[in-house]
Amino acid sequence: MKARQIKTNVYWVGAIDWDRRLFDELIPLPDGTSYNSYLIEGSTKTALIDTVDPTMGDELINHLNQLGVDNIDYVIANHAEQDHAGSIPQVLVKYPDAKVVTTPKGQDMLVALLLIPEDRFITVSDGETLSLGDKTLEFIHAPWVHWPETMLTYLREDKILFPCDFLGSHLATTDLYVRDGGQIYEAAKRYYAEIMMPFQTNIQKNLEKIKDYAIDIIAPSHGPMHDRPEFILKAYHSWAFDEPKNIVVLPYISMHGSTQKMVEYFVGALADRGVTVKQFNLAATDIGKLAMALVDAATMVIGTPTVLLGPHPNVAYAALLANALKPKLQFVSIIGSYGWGSKAVEQLTGMIPNLKVEVLDTVISKGFPKEADFKALDNLASTIAEKHKESGFA
Ligand code: FEO
Repeated sequence: MKARQIKTNVYWVGAIDWDRRLFDELIPLPDGTSYNSYLIEGSTKTALIDTVDPTMGDELINHLNQLGVDNIDYVIANHAEQDHAGSIPQVLVKYPDAKVVTTPKGQDMLVALLLIPEDRFITVSDGETLSLGDKTLEFIHAPWVHWPETMLTYLREDKILFPCDFLGSHLATTDLYVRDGGQIYEAAKRYYAEIMMPFQTNIQKNLEKIKDYAIDIIAPSHGPMHDRPEFILKAYHSWAFDEPKNIVVLPYISMHGSTQKMVEYFVGALADRGVTVKQFNLAATDIGKLAMALVDAATMVIGTPTVLLGPHPNVAYAALLANALKPKLQFVSIIGSYGWGSKAVEQLTGMIPNLKVEVLDTVISKGFPKEADFKALDNLASTIAEKHKESGFA
């Protein structure tokens, strides 16, 4: 892939990572990703916005060589995480006069993470501008999308917003711009769920902060650019601001069929009452799909057998993940089974302190579920349907 022109003297110079399947050794990347870097050549100065993952630094350098870039004045570091900042040291070696432009917190983090010398930095305050001659960069501090040091860069004359991770998506594609809205909606929602959802209040504030900017193109540092910015802005607005929906997310696991039988019965009982259920067998679940389902759900019901008196470890993992992602859930319950004794309910509820939820009655069966257990599951389904109605979610 060659460098690609976006506007006069504005180029995409990033790298597409078709093969990456895991991020942070945690997050599945079913469709790969890209690390987008952008070159802006003004009449007097040249700036590079974000770099690429250090594994692909040579691709960035090749693009700069193809374009004959013999000088870079500023490397704009919107975000210090290594998938964007990791090739800054390589760029600074090639362009020894370049300065790194970032927030004060960004400088601290880049010094700590990448050992960049302090005299290579220029720090910028919120709203500060930097002239490249006939092009002007404006820096918008946007903390917690998704680290504390993050900022966005706005190219005034071309009306391009460079938001780094914010509004991005993990997707490897040869399309410079979004061309398959359905595919991008899915990828961007997955990205929001895994990366941005824990900072929902900050997302809301930052969406408000950029709402009056005239934006023709959103150029994130993962995934294709948006030449119809309202598509992604509207989606983010909905994920961050909307009330939860009439949805139950049901992550579960079953070892010998008892919890499985309860889950099957319970899903039917909820469906009969008009509640949408998203069921995830944790033995084979893509946790990104589970995270996406949590964006909109009003209730999570966890299904677990008992292992050594506690929840199944895979279920404990899902509970800890939900706690970390801090979705808009309002209600939680637990269903499951045990053989001779269980502390699964106490242990699971102790794992979700971040979730500001009402814990509903639980249904735990001794062995295979019996009539009384099925009746209790019917009652729980009725309670959930009523709670959703009372709360205006149904
Ligand atoms: Fe794409 Fe937070 O790095």
